[in-house]
Amino acid sequence: MKNGRKVKWGILSTARIGLDKVIPAMQQCGNVEVVAIASRQPQMAADAASRLGIPKHYGSYEALLHDPEVEAIYNPLPNHMHFTYTKMAIEHGKHVLCEKPMTLSKEEINTLMHLRDLHKVKVGEAFMVHTHPQWRKVVELVKNGHIGNLLAVQGFFSYFKTDPTNIRNIMAFGGGAMWDIGCYPIHTTRMVFGEEPRRAVALIDRDPVLKTDRLASVILDFPSGQCSFMVSTQLVAHQRMIFFGDEKRIEIEIPFNAPTDRPCRIFVQDGNLLAPGREEIHFDTCDQYNIQGEAFSDAIIHDGPVPVSLENAYGNTSTIEAIFESEKTGQWVSVAKG
Ligand SMILES: NC(=O)c1ccc[n+]([C@@H]2O[C@H](COP(=O)([O-])OP(=O)(O)OC[C@H]3O[C@@H](n4cnc5c(N)ncnc54)[C@H](OP(=O)(O)O)[C@@H]3O)[C@@H](O)[C@H]2O)c1
Repeated sequence: MKNGRKVKWGILSTARIGLDKVIPAMQQCGNVEVVAIASRQPQMAADAASRLGIPKHYGSYEALLHDPEVEAIYNPLPNHMHFTYTKMAIEHGKHVLCEKPMTLSKEEINTLMHLRDLHKVKVGEAFMVHTHPQWRKVVELVKNGHIGNLLAVQGFFSYFKTDPTNIRNIMAFGGGAMWDIGCYPIHTTRMVFGEEPRRAVALIDRDPVLKTDRLASVILDFPSGQCSFMVSTQLVAHQRMIFFGDEKRIEIEIPFNAPTDRPCRIFVQDGNLLAPGREEIHFDTCDQYNIQGEAFSDAIIHDGPVPVSLENAYGNTSTIEAIFESEKTGQWVSVAKG
């Protein structure tokens, strides 16, 4: 950090992603100070604060939002609470980094944009993949024509989780595969094409008891090409993204849950199946949550753009809404423009 300024962060809840990944990574950022954490249960907040060395703890989210020392909020609440608490935080004059998915409707994103501009704060979606060096490299390679013209994208993301108490399996909480993990192939494909999809069609299988979308196949029609991806909450765990140009293809080995204990790899391959030329690009070991925290705090300190803006989040949300509309009608559905 050049000027030594640290943004003072408050954390809403003792969510696992916060305690296990995001908070420890943010505490390693040169421009971050995590000053407070809140939980619905005061003892949980106290335990988390003591474990992570956070000076203040609160027994309600509202109490933390009233703390004048807190400049920025990290919001990892269940999906259906993202909008309400991000809105409340903005109205308290706080910057907000909110977990994906930013909201469950594009109207809510419009409301947040209005409030963001009114209160002059930074608001963004916590798509940590966006700033990972492996993804910056894929964007750069495609932009520079390294694989020829990008025409097709194939994606896959799955895990197996049937615990009915997990937030991912509760419909009223914005559960299901598309909001939880479908958002990743959508976000990264939009990012690499540098375009919004025009329309979407989907085939979705729902859990008969949970009613969540447990297996989905989607086709997205972009101005420059096509993306097809599958996601599931009830399959063997796997993740992969492949970007096909007319000369080469790029495969990202671990596209979303990038490891922090070894270098990430992407493979650039030509089409020679008998004597394939394979270029392996390795990335120094890093923590994408650390990079995200540093980048978002920098945007606050220097009044710059956040890594994933609300305008960007709108593109993902409207795509997911089109996918669910297609599930109902069995037809292609246009993706609404922001
Ligand atoms: N970017 C990523 O890599 C990534 C990874 C995983 C998850 N996420 C996102 O992060 C968010 C949290 O996911 P998670 O797996 O960490 O969830 P989680 O462990 O279930 O945490 C959610 C937290 O929300 C609070 N909460 C408030 N009302 C609740 C309610 N009615 N039921 C349950 N919890 C409630 C609880 O905290 P208190 O009890 O302390 O109030 C709970 O610990 C989700 O939006 C998810 O999409 C992102």
